[in-house]
Amino acid sequence: MIWTLSISGRHSRRISRSRGTLWEKQDPKTSYTLVGDKTFPRYDIIILTVIKTAIEGRRKPNPKHHNMFNLFGEKGKLGIDIGTAAIKIVELEKSGGRFTLKNYGLFELKSTDVQSSGSGTGQSILKLPDQEIIWGLKELIKKGNIKSTDAIASIPSFSTFATIIEMPYLSEQELAKALPFEARKYIPIPLSEVILDWSIIDISSPASPRSPGSAPKPTTVQVFLAAVPRDETEKYKRIMKGAGLNLKALELENTALIRALLGNDLSPTAIVNIGGRSTSIVIVNKGYERVSHNYEIGGFEITKSIARSLNVSIEKAEELKRKMGMKEADENIVNEAMVSLIDMMVFETKKTISNYESSKNQKIARVLLVGGLTNMPSFVNYFKQKLNMDVYGANAFARIIYPESLKPIIQELANAFSIAAGLAMRDI
Ligand SMILES: Nc1ncnc2c1ncn2[C@@H]1O[C@H](COP(=O)(O)OP(=O)(O)OP(=O)(O)O)[C@@H](O)[C@H]1O
Ligand SMILES: [Mg+2]
Repeated sequence: MIWTLSISGRHSRRISRSRGTLWEKQDPKTSYTLVGDKTFPRYDIIILTVIKTAIEGRRKPNPKHHNMFNLFGEKGKLGIDIGTAAIKIVELEKSGGRFTLKNYGLFELKSTDVQSSGSGTGQSILKLPDQEIIWGLKELIKKGNIKSTDAIASIPSFSTFATIIEMPYLSEQELAKALPFEARKYIPIPLSEVILDWSIIDISSPASPRSPGSAPKPTTVQVFLAAVPRDETEKYKRIMKGAGLNLKALELENTALIRALLGNDLSPTAIVNIGGRSTSIVIVNKGYERVSHNYEIGGFEITKSIARSLNVSIEKAEELKRKMGMKEADENIVNEAMVSLIDMMVFETKKTISNYESSKNQKIARVLLVGGLTNMPSFVNYFKQKLNMDVYGANAFARIIYPESLKPIIQELANAFSIAAGLAMRDI
């Protein structure tokens, strides 16, 4: 398979390898949950939630139409996010320019496995042998009755290198030749060991045209440059192939997140993604990542802090965190046990935003919160108060059609599946 890392839009080199798989219809059933499959020792807790939508019905009145979509290659796509603690899959189908959620699935590594060994150095799905990850993926696909095979996967921020560089204005071909030389200055490992990709994100012109009436001539371009170690990309290719999937592209996590949360919205925004192992703060302008800061504290550390302060087990601490959260109740001792860690997150966010604002002389209008921890009761409000900015809980499923029955849990799903959703929304 010919493969290249693709990060976005214009310069993405596509891999097109349609196997002509037509969409297979699924039984319109509602959701079910499966807990505690013991087939594989490492994954002794499996939480797999699967939906099967009845959405096929929407297109039924016109069977010809249905076929037409299929003929034009409108079929399902999988977004696959392999995180520290979970493999997350979202299956989307696009028709008439709108996405429909066909299915989703979550495969979680036993929580104590991940938490006990501490953040940063802890167990992580990506550190497991290939065969175990393949097994997890296949299990998820099988139990979820997931039929699509075209997949887009994400590479975690901590194993990628991304930066913005300024270059003189050149034609695209000239830039393509010049960039590898330039990239050597920024990328700490030999270029032969990385996969490189880039996109032009801004073109600057002098403030006033040389002669009145003529358009100003561009002078410089800003290029978003990304590199991923080849070993890493090879691992993904092996895993996806092993699971019987057709890997169409690998994307940076943040690229998928931006697509899912912002779509065509170009205003300057900060996205704070609080996961299990870490928190990432990304400043986005005109749809592109400008600055990204990774901070090694996430939900696991918070659970551990609750367990320590209250002298309870990790499981109990996790339960308390989800139930009590940042509620202000006088007796919310959970709040006290984690408030300093949360305040640090707010502080890191504030620092990243103000550094950007002062260096670029540009205001960040709003902050979007996403990631598992955002589900915690009263968390968004607390963050908003402390940061003193416009802070919102983001919803990656806002532009996706989903079954009515999911309404009560859609916000929680959106927080967990935002990267996977953004991946599946990619045009391939
Ligand atoms: N309802 C909830 N209340 C509080 N915390 C929650 C809730 N749901 C999930 N979490 C926490 O969110 C964290 C997992 O978040 P997420 O699913 O975004 O992580 P991840 O993407 O797998 O991890 P990472 O991005 O660090 O690799 C865990 O610490 C979990 O305890
Ligand atoms: Mg994550």
